[in-house]
Parts: sequence; structure tokens; C-alpha cells
Amino acid sequence: MTRILVLSDLHLSPTHGFFWDNWALARDAANAMAPAAVIVTGDLCINGPDSDGEIAFAAAALRRLAPHTLALPGNHDVGDEPPGQDAEQLIDEPRLSRWNAAFGTDCWSLDLDAWRLVGVNAQLFGSGLAAEAVQDAWLDTAFASAAGRRIALFLHKPLFLESADEVEPTAGSLNLPPRQALMEKLRTADVSMVVSGHLHQYRDRTVDGLRHVWAPSTAFMTNHPLGGDPRPGMLAIDFAGPEPVVDLLRPPGLVEFDLAAIKGHGRYKFLRDMPACPPQAA
Ligand SMILES: [Fe+2]
Ligand SMILES: [Fe+2]
Repeated sequence: MTRILVLSDLHLSPTHGFFWDNWALARDAANAMAPAAVIVTGDLCINGPDSDGEIAFAAAALRRLAPHTLALPGNHDVGDEPPGQDAEQLIDEPRLSRWNAAFGTDCWSLDLDAWRLVGVNAQLFGSGLAAEAVQDAWLDTAFASAAGRRIALFLHKPLFLESADEVEPTAGSLNLPPRQALMEKLRTADVSMVVSGHLHQYRDRTVDGLRHVWAPSTAFMTNHPLGGDPRPGMLAIDFAGPEPVVDLLRPPGLVEFDLAAIKGHGRYKFLRDMPACPPQAA
């Protein structure tokens, strides 16, 4: 079996349950499909960087996935690399430790027949933390030991928005210096595909020979017109052949929440600032 599912940007919380029902639909669909693995590409939480309870809640939610599940952290789980979209929530050692205590690791590899799937913590690139250098060395080993397998990389943030030479720092993607260093590794290892979340839209584009697939969120749509499909959903990716086959899935009943509308069109800056509304059926 070579088909996996990618679920991304769940944005779960025991206190702010806007997206729990969407998650439950995605989870039940994933369990019914029985893929080789479920990969969760970050932003499991809303306020994970500052909440033990929220990270624990997300970890418990993932335990109800029956397939082998591999999770990666996003900025709403461990914080952003600087400068980030929220100066109060930059990645640091305690936030990283909280994630690792709940999920075991923030990077992993999985071999599926002729493919090696490698997952990394996007929030470390450009962070300057000691863990960044540790992950860089781990990544070199994961690539070098692929033994002829084709390689797909999974991480929360895309490498760039439109082109690899974007200079402007942005919270939307990796920034230029760490992007260049990572892309040099990808070229050396002949990596075929990069799968990311974070932008809450589905897009599948090959740029300079490297395929970049953006996974949609299970939770909500944002207003970032970047050419993708913003509607909530999930991806199935089949690694049976040399070119992975990507299918966009929308479990029936998934609600197309609009982030700006939920936040009252400017009334609240962050979802975590809103009055509590716990999920009903968690
Ligand atoms: Fe997100
Ligand atoms: Fe994100």
C-alpha cells in the first residue's frame, strides 16, 4: 500500500472549538480509507505555543486516528521562526520541548516502497536554535541513506510563495537564507517533491523541476490569493509510481469557514483572544 493522507492546519483547541466538527469529519474519513499513513503538516492547535492543555488536546485528537500517524509542528504549535507573524510566539526551547513531549519527535522518515518520505520541523529553519543544526545534520543523513529511493519532503511552511529568489521576509514561507540552504540540500539529494501546509489552500505547481504541493486546511479559509483553492479539505497522495498522484478530498459536510468572518472582521486579532466556545462533542 502506497497511498497516504495529508491532513493540515486542524487548529484544534479545548477552549475554542470552531473547527472540531470539520476535524471529526476528516478524521472519520481518514479512518475509513485506511491509508498507509496519515501525515499531519502542522498547526494542530490555535494557541499551542502558550498552552500545555492545547498541545495535549491535539495529541489526544490524533490518537483517534487509526492509521499510522506522523505529525509535524507549525507556528500555531511551537511558534514561528523570527521575525514571525506574532512576536509574542516565536519558537524557543520550552515550546519545542512541549511538542516533543507530546508527539515524540518533530522530524521523521518513512519508507514506502520506492519512496522515502521525510518530515521536518519548518519552524526551526532560521530560528538559530541549537535544534536547527541538529535537524540539519539529521536531514543530511536521512537524504544520504535513502538508498536510491525517490524522496518527498514534508513540512509546515512552503519554501516560497511564487519563486525561490523572493527576498522579502514573510511569515508565509521560509525566508531567503534558510530557504537557499535547504534548497541546496534538496538539489544535492535530488528530492522530487515538497508537501506543505500553512497557507490554507490547495496548490500543485512544479517550479524549476521541483514539485510543490500545498495541502488545504481541514479547518478554515484565509484570504491570501495565491492561486490555490482555499476550500477546506485533505489530500490523498499515492506513491506507487515515479510521479505521485495527488487527489484533493472533501469529506461531505465539511464547512467552509472564513477566518475573517469568525474573527468578526477585525474585532479580534487572534482566535485565542475570542471568548471561549469549547467544542461540543470532543
Ligand atoms: Fe494554519
Ligand atoms: Fe501555519
